[in-house]
Amino acid sequence: SENTTDYDLSQPITSTTGLKQGLAGYGDPHFSLFLRKVFIKALGYGEDALSRPIVGIINTYSGFNPCHGNTPQLLEAAKRGVQLAGGLAIDFPTISVAESFSAPTSMFLRNLMSMDTEEMIRAQPVDACIVIGGCDKTVPAQIMGGISANKPILPLITGPMMPGSHQGKRIGACTDCRNNWAAFRAGQIDIEEIAAVNEELAPTSGTCGVMGTASTMACLTAALGLMPLKGASAPAVSAARLRIAEETGRNAVAAAESKATPQSILSRESFLNAITVLQAIGGSTNGIVHLLAIINRMPDLQGTIALRYIDEIGKITPLIVDLKPSGDGYMTDFHNAGGMLALLHTLRPLLHLSAKTISGQTLGEVLDASPFKRFPYSAEIIRSLDNPLAPNSSLAVLYGNLAPKGCVVKASASKDRSLLSHSGPAVVFKNAADLAQRIDSPDLNVLRSSVLVLQNIGPIGYPGMPEAGLIPIPQKLSREGVTDMLRISDGRMSGTAGGTIILHVSPETALPESVLGIVEDGDLITCDLDQRMLRLEVEQGVIESRLSRRKLLSSETNGEAPGSSVLVERNTRRGYRGLYERTVNQAHLGADFDFLTAGGPTHDCG
Ligand code: FES
Ligand code: MG
Repeated sequence: SENTTDYDLSQPITSTTGLKQGLAGYGDPHFSLFLRKVFIKALGYGEDALSRPIVGIINTYSGFNPCHGNTPQLLEAAKRGVQLAGGLAIDFPTISVAESFSAPTSMFLRNLMSMDTEEMIRAQPVDACIVIGGCDKTVPAQIMGGISANKPILPLITGPMMPGSHQGKRIGACTDCRNNWAAFRAGQIDIEEIAAVNEELAPTSGTCGVMGTASTMACLTAALGLMPLKGASAPAVSAARLRIAEETGRNAVAAAESKATPQSILSRESFLNAITVLQAIGGSTNGIVHLLAIINRMPDLQGTIALRYIDEIGKITPLIVDLKPSGDGYMTDFHNAGGMLALLHTLRPLLHLSAKTISGQTLGEVLDASPFKRFPYSAEIIRSLDNPLAPNSSLAVLYGNLAPKGCVVKASASKDRSLLSHSGPAVVFKNAADLAQRIDSPDLNVLRSSVLVLQNIGPIGYPGMPEAGLIPIPQKLSREGVTDMLRISDGRMSGTAGGTIILHVSPETALPESVLGIVEDGDLITCDLDQRMLRLEVEQGVIESRLSRRKLLSSETNGEAPGSSVLVERNTRRGYRGLYERTVNQAHLGADFDFLTAGGPTHDCG
């Protein structure tokens, strides 16, 4: 079948029976085995080593990825765990994607990393694979690829960085990057002070220290049952993190022996649990896109858990974790308060306890085996269900003529909740460059009640759906003390950011049917959180004539309609970008490549 490696290095070359046929690769299967053993022996492995379960360890160290700075130590500890449990650990690289150094955007590269991960797990003779990830896009990429390859995968997360300190106050990437920059823009702090802050925002290696996308994905991975619960929160630079790596090594040998593949562990219940956790932690909006992409890699689940579920589960899930950007604390607080173990015990009545985990136990059995006693500090950071920070719906999904396939808002990170039910005139920016050029202009025709609309930062449009959805407050308003406005785009926002920001509008501007693409300055837009609605208050007939005018102008001008937003011609570019533009699906499906989803064409190379 396509999911098994077609060669088995544990067989002696004298064996002539039971050789896997599959794709022999080098002539007959016996000669293929012989040849592969020649080359693996060049690395010094003996027959005894090769007879063990082989655990691959994906090394995503990169000199450009500070979030993975501790990978060498994790690798060593994970290898020790594998070898103490009687396996053979063999590491190999895949690409590494760090948020800050992945132009045009890290999201553009997530699917590439998932393909690299899938194909290298598939190609090499590993019985299980530890995947070391941490920075935002890496963990979803590895889970997506791992599900599609369907050999046992064990995520090993690099862990959050420690908070830094500025004038006696804790600060951390990247919520405080934004707060301090906004203060600097508003003239509240000077250049010397912002420079001092710059030195302390990321004081150690590891992932951003708040409940941003990386921490969100770490919590979701634990909720899905793919790793030990402590693995979501132990600091990158802690000894606990190294012990988790060692434990992951042991678990990998067991998973190799029991053939605990992701498709056999993950179920509808696991994903519903993950969504419950996403809502309870006030997780990153990016977590929604990634979770949908992951679900849509599952042959039995594709399309069955849709964007709407995020909202439905949100309605019955309180926000109970008090971390930035929705609350006040840092990931170290979450860890010290008991982390995922404390959280899942608290959420127990809302969870599907029959969900399986990589350990072989159900989630309920994992919790029963590790009781947790709440203590006062823990109850501050991880509130009880009857004393939440917000009663429900940290993340909400809205629909309406402006977003027929949906859009999302992180209601818990809104600074001015009145904006969640608000009508105002649109101020439209055609793309990110237009925004940069005009947002701070003294001539910008904008009121504090205006709705800022940024077009053309969707999956196809940018490309890669950048985190530019956090449209800055126009400087002339921020100087008057305005700190929040209703903002709408087809892009994403950093999980560490806050404000009343509507994101992931689908379909995106770059598609001909996009109503977001025909919004004009002065059009009235209504957001109504209670009704879960986002509407362009323009008559349907006018909307339709604007849509057809845009299509017509675009075809006459090769996609560049003057005075209108761009329709992307999807068949012109070469290379990965061409592949991306031609095949990426919309945010409400996960912004995956359509041919990688479980419903796409099958992978048939063996
Ligand atoms: Fe890597 Fe935030 S930049 S986790
Ligand atoms: Mg981020």
